[in-house]
Amino acid sequence: MEIKRKNKSQLLSKIATNDRHRENSPYFDGWKAYDNNPFHPTQNPNGVIQMGLAENKLCFDLIKKWIMENPDASICTAGGVDKFKDVAIFQDYHGLKEFREAIAKFMGRVGGNKVTFDASRIVMSSGATGANETIMFCLVNPGDAFLVPSPYYPGFARDLRWRTGLEIVPVDCKSSNNFRITRAAMEDAYEKAQKWNLNVKGIIIANPSNPLGTTLDIETMRSLVAFVNEKNIHLVCDEIYAATVFDSPRFVSIAEVIQDMDCCNRDLIHIVYSLSKDMGIPGFRVGIVYSFNDDVMLCARKMSSFGLVSSQTQYLLASMLSDDGFVGNFLRESSKRLAKRHYVFTKGLEQVGISCLTSNAGLFFWMDMRLLLKEQSFKGEIELWRVILNEVKLNVSPGSSFQCSEPGWFRVCFANMDDETVEVALNRIRAFVLNRENQESNRSKRCWRKKHLRLSFSSTRLYDETIMSPCMISPHSPLVRAKT
Ligand SMILES: Cc1ncc(COP(=O)(O)O)c(C=O)c1O
Repeated sequence: MEIKRKNKSQLLSKIATNDRHRENSPYFDGWKAYDNNPFHPTQNPNGVIQMGLAENKLCFDLIKKWIMENPDASICTAGGVDKFKDVAIFQDYHGLKEFREAIAKFMGRVGGNKVTFDASRIVMSSGATGANETIMFCLVNPGDAFLVPSPYYPGFARDLRWRTGLEIVPVDCKSSNNFRITRAAMEDAYEKAQKWNLNVKGIIIANPSNPLGTTLDIETMRSLVAFVNEKNIHLVCDEIYAATVFDSPRFVSIAEVIQDMDCCNRDLIHIVYSLSKDMGIPGFRVGIVYSFNDDVMLCARKMSSFGLVSSQTQYLLASMLSDDGFVGNFLRESSKRLAKRHYVFTKGLEQVGISCLTSNAGLFFWMDMRLLLKEQSFKGEIELWRVILNEVKLNVSPGSSFQCSEPGWFRVCFANMDDETVEVALNRIRAFVLNRENQESNRSKRCWRKKHLRLSFSSTRLYDETIMSPCMISPHSPLVRAKT
């Protein structure tokens, strides 16, 4: 048996079988729980509601309308089939010129037209997942390290590390200053990496942040640029949520920041972009590497053969994104709808005393559940998460899966469901919090009674406290039930 098992693992490569993909974390467990019992308003009303997936489903109607009005942009329609032959055989890894130009223009527009992106620098990849791996492939040797401000997107652990051998060193950001990235935190992480004999090659940030839903301020970005220049390391900015900003301050791309900085070595600056979030089309797998460094750009382009965007998708998007009227309306409407949804959700939570980090972007918010932890620890956080997943039937993601340095925070995705599901989710949270409050008040009443009984019968032990402590978790508490 033992020999058999050994042979089995030897059949695959070490790199394929190592666990650097990190799929064995609560973040992915929650998805599995949803897959096994998905909510449906009529067919499965008690199922799990998926709030762990950062999808943007609020503007499909606009895209659908455009597609219907522009049949010749799709090569698989009667209107566009004449182009089928040319487009279907296209496989140049530079990509369709019209596509690169349209993407570059779109990135500029999302950044408020403060910078012009050079279409010749657009390198394709299979989503931001592929783009992040590609950029790491170009920059690091196995065993090198990248600093990553925490809390950070759990997919980074897989995308940046699995096949490259990179190590991640978190830059711990704290709730006391709204999880801002400070120079001191960056220096601490850098020193820690050096103590561990890791060669630090750079720092990667997501702006706007996943999971915080906040945009970086210009001062912080300047400080990041100054830091990488002083250390002569790279700065990778994952700007995948750029157009999800729904409130001030506006999104500022790193490209705009370095435009005004004379002392910046541009060879150190790289952008990752994708249409997965901003346009809500992750299935199209449109990812972009945009590097200011020529060598990195050429290397990434060679790599892009492994993850090209299909020519059919390029062709469609070239046409859609060059339609200025459509793009303008889409961007305006999308941020309006995100703002509304964010407001409905966070207000609903506020009414039952749950607060969230103030945010202005993203498809999620960062919910503060510290007061509901039985124990202020990551164990307490996972216990609460299990109750929320198994009893309340909401798949939210615990902060520990984002490497948050403080327990009690949860990421809640709000743009992947319809208005009715939002109401169901809010009702479930309200019921859960009220139930908790009742339990707490019953517990304190019992504690109060016990104290008074003790005072009245101070010489008599009414019951064995170790068995019947009134402050013990009630057998009906969700925490107890969650263990079964
Ligand atoms: C910060 C960040 N980067 C990259 C990705 C991967 O995106 P894509 O679907 O384009 O591969 C995600 C997805 O959630 C993300 O949040």
